[in-house]
Amino acid sequence: MTEARHLGPRRLLAACALWLIAATNGPVAAIEADNEHVVSSPNGRLAVSVAMDVDGQLNYRVDLDGAVVIEPSKLGLYFASRIDLIKGLTIDDVLHTSSDVSWEQPWGERRIVHDRHNELLLSLSGSNPPRQLRLRFRVFDDGVGFRYEVPEQDVYADVRLVGEATEFRIDRDARAFSQPADSPLRYETLYSETPIGVLDRVTTPLTLRLDTGVHIAIHEAALVDYPAFNLEFDVDSIFRTDLRPSSEGYRARLAAPFRTPWRTIAVAENAVGLVNSTLTLNLNEPNVLGDVSWIETGKYLGIWWAMHLGQKSWGEGDAHGATTSEAKRYVDFAADHGFRGVLIEGWNRGWNGDWVQNWQFDYTTPYPDFDIEAVAAYADERGVRLIGHHETGGHVSAYESVLEDALDYYEQLGVRTVKTGYVGEARTLKRLDENGDVHLEWHDGQFAVKHQLAVVEAAARRKIAINTHEPVKDTGLRRTYPNWLTREGSRGMEFNAPWSDTPNPLDHEPMLVFTRMLGGPMDYTPGIFDLDVETSDGARRIRSTLARQLALYVVLYSPIHMAADLPENYLARPDAFRFIVDVPTDWEESVALAGDVGDYVVTARKVRDGSDWFLGAITDENERRLSIDLDFLDTDTRYVAEIYEDGTNAHWETAPYAIDIREATFTHTDTLELKLAAGGGAAVRFRPEGGAALEANSS
Ligand code: NOJ
Repeated sequence: MTEARHLGPRRLLAACALWLIAATNGPVAAIEADNEHVVSSPNGRLAVSVAMDVDGQLNYRVDLDGAVVIEPSKLGLYFASRIDLIKGLTIDDVLHTSSDVSWEQPWGERRIVHDRHNELLLSLSGSNPPRQLRLRFRVFDDGVGFRYEVPEQDVYADVRLVGEATEFRIDRDARAFSQPADSPLRYETLYSETPIGVLDRVTTPLTLRLDTGVHIAIHEAALVDYPAFNLEFDVDSIFRTDLRPSSEGYRARLAAPFRTPWRTIAVAENAVGLVNSTLTLNLNEPNVLGDVSWIETGKYLGIWWAMHLGQKSWGEGDAHGATTSEAKRYVDFAADHGFRGVLIEGWNRGWNGDWVQNWQFDYTTPYPDFDIEAVAAYADERGVRLIGHHETGGHVSAYESVLEDALDYYEQLGVRTVKTGYVGEARTLKRLDENGDVHLEWHDGQFAVKHQLAVVEAAARRKIAINTHEPVKDTGLRRTYPNWLTREGSRGMEFNAPWSDTPNPLDHEPMLVFTRMLGGPMDYTPGIFDLDVETSDGARRIRSTLARQLALYVVLYSPIHMAADLPENYLARPDAFRFIVDVPTDWEESVALAGDVGDYVVTARKVRDGSDWFLGAITDENERRLSIDLDFLDTDTRYVAEIYEDGTNAHWETAPYAIDIREATFTHTDTLELKLAAGGGAAVRFRPEGGAALEANSS
C-alpha cells in the first residue's frame, strides 16, 4: 500500500475552475476550485471528485473518461439529535493511498480476486458542538465505493440515525432495470425496464443504462448493523438514499465509533461488465472465520418441490413429505448420482395449520413418521449430507430464543448446511421487547440485518453454513463470513409452482443476472424437468425449455445449487440429467461473455481443480443465434464439447422438451454456433479430448 498526504491530483480541474451543481429544476451552487479533491481509478478512466460547495455542503461526482456518470450529489448523515454530519464541516486532512493485492476465495465464481484501487480519505470536523467525520472513497477500474466513518466521540455515543443525505444524480435519459422497494412480497417481485423518470422507490442493486451505453449499478457492500437502503427518485433526476426504518421510527441506533456500509457504483461499458465486476467483494472485509475448509459446496436434492407442487405436505397427514422412507429414497438417489446434500423440509413439529400466524416451531422434535437419527445415519453411510431447515415464519425473537439448541441439534446429527426462512410479509418480522411486547420490523431493517448475521455467526461456531431464504439483500458478506453460502432474495423457481398466480416470465432470469445477482449468489433452485404443472385453473407450462433448465446451472451462480425436481422426473430424462450430474458449483474462473439486461446472457466458467470449462446461455421470448468466440478456453488444449441445445422446433410453449445433445471438438481459436429457442437455452461442457493437453497429445 502506498500513501500520500496532500490535496490530491486536480486532473479534472484543468478544464474548469468551478463545477455547477445544476439539476434541471434544482438549485445551483458553486464549488470553488481549491476545495476539490480528486481520486482516479488505477487505469485512470474513472474519477471521483469530492468538494464542498459555497453553502458548506459536501458533494461528490463520478466521471468516466471525462464524461459525467454521477452528477454532483450530496453527502451526509442526519441524526435525531439534529447534530448532523452534513454542513458546517471543514476538511482537516486528506490522505491518498493505493492498493494492489490479490486474495483467494475459499469457494466462489473465481478463485483469485484482484483488488486494485486508489483511496481518498477525508477527515472532517465541525464545531458547536465539536464533531468528526471521515469519508472514505475507493476507486477501482470497475467502480466506486464510499462510506461514512464516525470516530468515537461523545455526541454520537448513543445516537439514532434518521437518514442519509447521500444522493446519486443521474442523467434523466437513463433507463432503469428496477424492482419496487415496498412490496409486501419483499424482494420477490419482478424487475421491469423503464425510463428513470417514472420510478418511485426501488431496491438495490439498481441497474441503469445511460444513453451513452455505459451501464451502472448502484448498490451497497458490507451491510452490517445498519438498515438496507432503497433509492427514492425525485423530479430533479436524483436518487435519494432511503434507509429502511425501524418500528420505532429511526433508521439505525448506533454508537460511535461506527461506519456505514459502502455505497457502491459499479461502472461498465456494457451490461456484462457489471456481471464481471468484483467491486462488491473487494469492498467487504476479509474472512474473519479463520480455517473454513469445513465449508461444503455442491449440488443438492430435496424433499421440497413435491410440497410446492401440492403433492406432499410440510405438515402431518397422509401426504406428509418428510417421512423416513421418502428421505432415504432421496438419499439413495443423491448417493447414486453424486449429489452432496439432501434438504428436508417439514420434518419438525410446528408445520400443521397456519405456521406463519401461529408460530409453534420446535426445531429439535421430529414428527413421529420421521426418524431423523436413522435418516442421518443412513445418509452418512451413503456419503450424503442432510441439509437442515429452519423456517421461522418471521418470528425472529422466538427463533433467537431457541437458536443455540436448534443449531446444536443439527450439529450433532452431522448437518453442515442449514436453510433458514422468514416467510411473511415485508414489514412483519416479529421482535419482542424486554416487556414481551411485539413490534413488527421490516425484512431488511437494522433489526433483520443484525439478526441474520448473528445466525450466520452462531452457525459458524458449529461449522455450519447458512442459506437464507427471505433474506436481507446480499452485499458481499460471504467474503467475511464464508459460511454464508447463498440466499434467495428474489423470485426463485418456486414462483413457477401451482400456488403462484404469476409464474416467472421469460425475461426474469436474464434480468436477475444483471440486477439481483450483482449482489451475490442466489439459491434459485433450477433443474425442473417436468415443465407442466397442474394449477387450480388447469395445466400450466413453465416458461422454459429443457435445455434452458440446464443452462441455469451455469448462468446463475451459487456455490450450492439444487436439482429441484423429483427423482422420477430426472430418471425419465437420463440424457439431459447427465449435465446436472456433471456440472460443478465451484469455479476457478468465470466470465460473462455476452448479454443484455433482461434479454439474454452467455457465461463461461472453468471448474476449480480441474480442466473442464462449462458454458450456459439463456434467452428471453426471442429465439437467438449466437456465435461464441471460444478464446476463453485454455490455449494448449483440444476439447470435446458436450452440447445440450434446444432442438430444431423447440419453443418453451409448444415444444419445450425438444433437445439436441451432441458432441463436437474445439480449440480456443474456434467459434461455437448455438441456436436458442424462444424461452430456451444451451448448456455445454468442454472436457479435454482424451483428458490431455495438445502438447501432451502431440509429443
Ligand atoms: C419459502 C422458501 O423460499 C421455500 O423454499 C420454502 O420451501 C418455504 N418458504 C417453506 O419454508
